Amino acid sequence: MGSHKIKRFIADTWKDYELLDSGEGAKLEKFGGVVLDRPEASAVWDRKKSFKEWDKAHSSFESTSKAAGYWKQNGKVPNTWNLEYKSEEHPSLRLKFNLETTRFKHIGIFPEQSCNWEYIAGKIKEGDKLLNLFAYTGGASLAAKSAGADVTHVDAIRQVIDWTRVNMELSGLTGIRWVVEDALKFLRREVKRGNKYSGVVLDPPTWGLGPKNEKWKLEHSLVEIVELVSQVVEPDGFIVMNTYSGLPPSTLETLWRRVLPNASTECGELCLQASDGHLLSTGSLIRVEL
Ligand SMILES: C[S@@+](CC[C@H](N)C(=O)[O-])C[C@H]1O[C@@H](n2cnc3c(N)ncnc32)[C@H](O)[C@@H]1O
Repeated sequence: MGSHKIKRFIADTWKDYELLDSGEGAKLEKFGGVVLDRPEASAVWDRKKSFKEWDKAHSSFESTSKAAGYWKQNGKVPNTWNLEYKSEEHPSLRLKFNLETTRFKHIGIFPEQSCNWEYIAGKIKEGDKLLNLFAYTGGASLAAKSAGADVTHVDAIRQVIDWTRVNMELSGLTGIRWVVEDALKFLRREVKRGNKYSGVVLDPPTWGLGPKNEKWKLEHSLVEIVELVSQVVEPDGFIVMNTYSGLPPSTLETLWRRVLPNASTECGELCLQASDGHLLSTGSLIRVEL
């Protein structure tokens, strides 16, 4: 029987990103030279910094619906800009991301994911196969590639894959295998083909659309996804599952223990830390080691 712990995974290895403050439903962040003010539902406390400090944001996101909105420019934000992540622990882990303010509040990176990049870089051995599902702009794919993995990157949105290709080239990497497909359909086929991976990374959203506009709802597909992933992972492999959908870490643990009862799991909250030490929980994370 494996070991089980609940913990906080804190993304505290950044040099070019900083959580400046959070509170009253928003977060103030610095990405390179650009300061952004974005909604953050889990920041239920008071802000620490003054209005004057928050007013220094170059751009603030104003929501018009649950998922979309617009950016209010307060200063000069370039159309796109680059951000670098350099790991101290894994010298080959040097990633570059091209960022852009989109109408969905996101900008092409989830900085809290650096915890996962470090973990993946530590687990991958040259030539291992890594599958990244719901892969977005590819932080986990780039981390695995920089450690020598053979990477398959699956996302339903072609433009998102094009964006990742830019990040791969900026990071001086080549040879990621791109798959524009519904992750669930891809998994079903991989199981039929008997393909196996040393590591599987997945970050399923609460809702989404497949490439043919298929509607996607996490609650309908979660159990099947977990079962299928457990069938494509090697007997000594690992899984990193992250979600921003509100599922608590204990639910992730129950899901994975159902299909892989002998694996070791470590689960908890993925957190950003402000310079004054205040933690902002951004989502749930589980690492499963077979
Ligand atoms: C929350 S983001 C993942 C963020 C990622 N963990 C990272 O670190 O950058 C979710 C991604 O899932 C993709 N997606 C949504 N529905 C999908 C589906 N049915 N199949 C595959 N990808 C899907 C979206 O295009 C989006 O890029």
